[in-house]
Amino acid sequence: MFDKTLKSLAAAAAVLLTTDVRAGEPPKKTAELLEKGKASFAVNCASCHGAKGEGDGVAAAALNPRPRNFTTDQLKNGAKVGQVFETLGKGMQGTAMIAFSHLSEDERWALAYYVIDLRAKSPKAKKK
Ligand code: HEC
Repeated sequence: MFDKTLKSLAAAAAVLLTTDVRAGEPPKKTAELLEKGKASFAVNCASCHGAKGEGDGVAAAALNPRPRNFTTDQLKNGAKVGQVFETLGKGMQGTAMIAFSHLSEDERWALAYYVIDLRAKSPKAKKK
């Protein structure tokens, strides 16, 4: 009886862990997903990161640390799509970069690909 309870608890914990830690594999990068990321970026991110991701949004000057310039700056948490996805889910503690876990996973993947694409298209970006 006790043993059975333990087993189902362990199973429940395993499910929680897998959904929490590994938020699924990245979806395929498509033109459609990038478009979605671009649209979401304009709404959710441009106020700080700027319309082109250059870290110069209207709110940027008042912030310390300043929002990342995606066309030049390195990404502290890494620049792989899964790492940017994670940053979006968790935010960056002690900064204006809040967690965007209220956005759907699909939207966060779209944003992650879009941010990476901004970097990839910039000759100035320090790639990491
Ligand atoms: C209220 C302002 C604000 C908004 C809105 C905002 N950010 Fe940020 N973001 C910041 C700041 C400030 C930093 C720099 C934090 C630091 O230096 O530790 C940052 C950093 C980042 C980083 C860098 C992470 C790294 O590894 O260095 C990424 C990626 C990012 N933001 C993506 C986004 C995306 C995508 C959105 C929209 C969904 C968004 N941000 C919205 C302020 C903002």
